[in-house]
Amino acid sequence: MGETKSLGVVGSGQMGSGIAQLGAMHGLHVWLLDTDPAALSRASKSISSSVQRFVSKGLLSQAAGTDALRRLKYTSDLEELRSADFIVEAIAESEDVKKKLFLELDKITKSSAILASNTSSISITRLASATSRPSQVIGMHFMNPPPIMKLVEIVRGADTSDETYNATKALAERFGKIVVCSQDFSGFIVNRILMPMINEAFHTLYTGVATKEDIDTGMKLGTNHPMGPLELADFIGLDVCLSIMKVLHTGLGDSKYAPCPLLVQYVDADRLGRKRGIGVYDYRKQHEPTKPSPRL
Ligand SMILES: NC(=O)c1ccc[n+]([C@@H]2O[C@H](COP(=O)([O-])OP(=O)(O)OC[C@H]3O[C@@H](n4cnc5c(N)ncnc54)[C@H](O)[C@@H]3O)[C@@H](O)[C@H]2O)c1
Repeated sequence: MGETKSLGVVGSGQMGSGIAQLGAMHGLHVWLLDTDPAALSRASKSISSSVQRFVSKGLLSQAAGTDALRRLKYTSDLEELRSADFIVEAIAESEDVKKKLFLELDKITKSSAILASNTSSISITRLASATSRPSQVIGMHFMNPPPIMKLVEIVRGADTSDETYNATKALAERFGKIVVCSQDFSGFIVNRILMPMINEAFHTLYTGVATKEDIDTGMKLGTNHPMGPLELADFIGLDVCLSIMKVLHTGLGDSKYAPCPLLVQYVDADRLGRKRGIGVYDYRKQHEPTKPSPRL
């Protein structure tokens, strides 16, 4: 496995667009793919303005910013990823949907390519089993927003090779990230701990213990968290939070991980958080609980 020169990112939502931006800003040729052309167009706008903010803050020269944007290509055609050295998948948090994609990527990409998933909770071992190259499948879990957050959680599946791990770690470090390594159990490190806390915040709201504002203020000022758990859930996406709780519940088999009915109801009502303009809070009414960490 040589040095990674080209990157394919599948899924151009909040995470995929940020990962593609990181790759382009660190000298890689990047293909960003989405099946939804509207998502690609949103990604292109948000990446351009984020790169511009890096430039205005003096973190990137204008020339480097322009070069980064030139290295980034947008597509809906999976065939374009044929020559990529490294692929990061960042599509919906569904095992069936991800497995189908891994099966296709395995057929299309070159045999030396590493197939990484940005999944928050799904088994890397099971995604790897959809391919003929389980030793080259790995979890590369970026935090939101990828251009800003320092951590990458690397998850080794049962058959992930040392070469794949080392290449993934080297890529994360090239992006300026700090790496932690988790074994392949539902939720890994970060979401195993974070999501039950968010779910408990929903229970606290659901059972009328306190208002959403008091729950968030209590956790911000009482535990020194930069955002309250309900604001954070809106920022992550309530659909993503619910999917992760379901994975924890099924994968770890303990009723303490059962998703809170209020979280389920919000998702049923399409109140998915900031990306829909409404979640626990209503952003259409200009409610500003705490500004999320700015997506540079
Ligand atoms: N949101 C977060 O804070 C966060 C943090 C870390 C990891 N993750 C993980 O990253 C992944 C993506 O999350 P997100 O928040 O960016 O989701 P998102 O809903 O913002 O974006 C997902 C994108 O994937 C596209 N897509 C769906 N199926 C596809 C397919 N088969 N082929 C190509 N594109 C497809 C959709 O059109 C959409 O644009 C999930 O696995 C999630 O668990 C999310």
